[in-house]
Amino acid sequence: MDPALDYGSTSYKQAYGRLTGAVIEGEQEAYGNYLKLAKLMPQHQAEFLDAARIERRHQRSFQSCSRNLGVNADRSWAKEVFAELRDRFSTAAAAGNLVPCLLIQALVVECLAIATYNAYIPVADDFSRKVAETVIQDEYQHLNFGQSWFKQNFESLRAEIQAANQTILPIAHRILARISYDAAHMGMDLQSLEEEFTIRYGEALEEIGFSFDEVYRMAASRSLAA
Ligand SMILES: [Fe+2]
Ligand SMILES: [Fe+2]
Repeated sequence: MDPALDYGSTSYKQAYGRLTGAVIEGEQEAYGNYLKLAKLMPQHQAEFLDAARIERRHQRSFQSCSRNLGVNADRSWAKEVFAELRDRFSTAAAAGNLVPCLLIQALVVECLAIATYNAYIPVADDFSRKVAETVIQDEYQHLNFGQSWFKQNFESLRAEIQAANQTILPIAHRILARISYDAAHMGMDLQSLEEEFTIRYGEALEEIGFSFDEVYRMAASRSLAA
C-alpha cells in the first residue's frame, strides 16, 4: 500500500468515484455482453450465462467497495466512457457478426479489466484490494474461454479477427486514455496500465494463432484510428 495515499481525502474520493463508476459500468457492460452472446451462440449458452452471473457478482462487489469508502460511483460519466464500445458491440450483434462481439467481450473487455485491476491492486485500500484480487481470477478464466474458442476456429476467422481488431483496438485505447487521469490520482502507474493491456491482449492474439509479427502489426492499428 502506498503510504502517500489518503483514501479519506476529497481528491482521492473524487477520482475514486469516477474510476469505480467506470469499473462498475465495465462490469455491467460485461454482464450485458455475455447475456447477448448466450443468445447469439446457443451452443455455449451455459458458459455465457455463467459468465454473466459472475460479472454481475463483480459489479456488486465493487459497489460494496465504494460504499465501504463512503463514495458515490459516478455512473453517468462512465456510461459515456463505454458508449463507443457498446455501440460497436450492438451493431455487430444486430448483424449477427459473432467475431467482433466475442473479440470485444472475451478479449478486449477482459484484458481491460485485468490490466486495470492489476494496476489498482498495489495502491488499493485493504477492502478493495481483496475484492480486486478475487475478481481478477475470474477475468483470467473468461479470457481463457475466449482464447480457446478463437483458437479452435482460427484459420476460418483469421481475416475477420484482423478486420475487427482494426476498429476495436483504438476504442480500447481511448477508454484507457479516458480513465488515466483518475487512475493517476489514485496512485496507479499509467505506464504499466497501458503495457499490461498491450501485453495481455498481444499474448491472447498469439495464443489464438497469430504470429508475433502479425500481433505487432495488429497492435499498430491502434494509431490508425486514434
Ligand atoms: Fe468482471
Ligand atoms: Fe469477465
